[in-house]
Amino acid sequence: MTQRRPIIAGNWKMHQNVAATSDLVENFLAQNYSEEVDVVICPPFTSLPNAAMLVTGSSIGLGAQNCHWEEKGAFTGEVAPSMLLEIGASWVIIGHSERRTLFGETNDTAARRAQAAQKAGLKVIYCVGETLDQRESGETFEVLRAQTGVMADLDPNHLVVAYEPVWAIGTGLTATPDQAQEAHLYLRSRLEIFFGPEAAAGLRILYGGSMKPANAVDLISLPDVDGGLIGGASLDVDSFSAIIRAAANCAAGE
Ligand code: PGA
Repeated sequence: MTQRRPIIAGNWKMHQNVAATSDLVENFLAQNYSEEVDVVICPPFTSLPNAAMLVTGSSIGLGAQNCHWEEKGAFTGEVAPSMLLEIGASWVIIGHSERRTLFGETNDTAARRAQAAQKAGLKVIYCVGETLDQRESGETFEVLRAQTGVMADLDPNHLVVAYEPVWAIGTGLTATPDQAQEAHLYLRSRLEIFFGPEAAAGLRILYGGSMKPANAVDLISLPDVDGGLIGGASLDVDSFSAIIRAAANCAAGE
């Protein structure tokens, strides 16, 4: 079986001003995280330059939470991929459910953003996931199918997928290991169609939705779960560090 290197990514959402970012990043840097895990933090746009200065030379990667598909133009409130690269980001989260449900993101716009981001040289964390209504009415796979259908033109070498059931985000509810594994396996089968078996086997699929130190091992040790996209627990140094340790232990087969 392909050994995939785990990723733990922190999605800070609209939390942490510049000063609070410095404190949190300095705390993370003092933890000496395992070399076996890719750690990425995604602060708000305004905190990115400061976070970039602090993480430069460390093993912590830096990402943004969105970007536009055009390089420049009359797009009030948007940020171009090259602007993120310029200030030191190398990752970007695309298609998060909060962008989809609150800000009108569609499968089509998410795919356009992701393509432009990769073309500019950013690595993409592409989010998919069903709502509670969709799960309860048996539409989970249909939704995942539509959300992934637009991903065929992406570059699998600069792509990480995040399965985030919307009903688990920020709610304290988590997918059971069976639910998570089933969805991840389905997503991997979709990736196989687009990118071929070898690329799909190497592609990392993160679980997101109330991942905490208490459930991290159960989820990350699943065969098709390769880490986590962490919201709330990524703002606390102890919780985030414990999840990274859990991922390192899973990678070591412990
Ligand atoms: P949560 O958020 O860990 O707070 O549920 C996950 C996410 O939205 O990426």
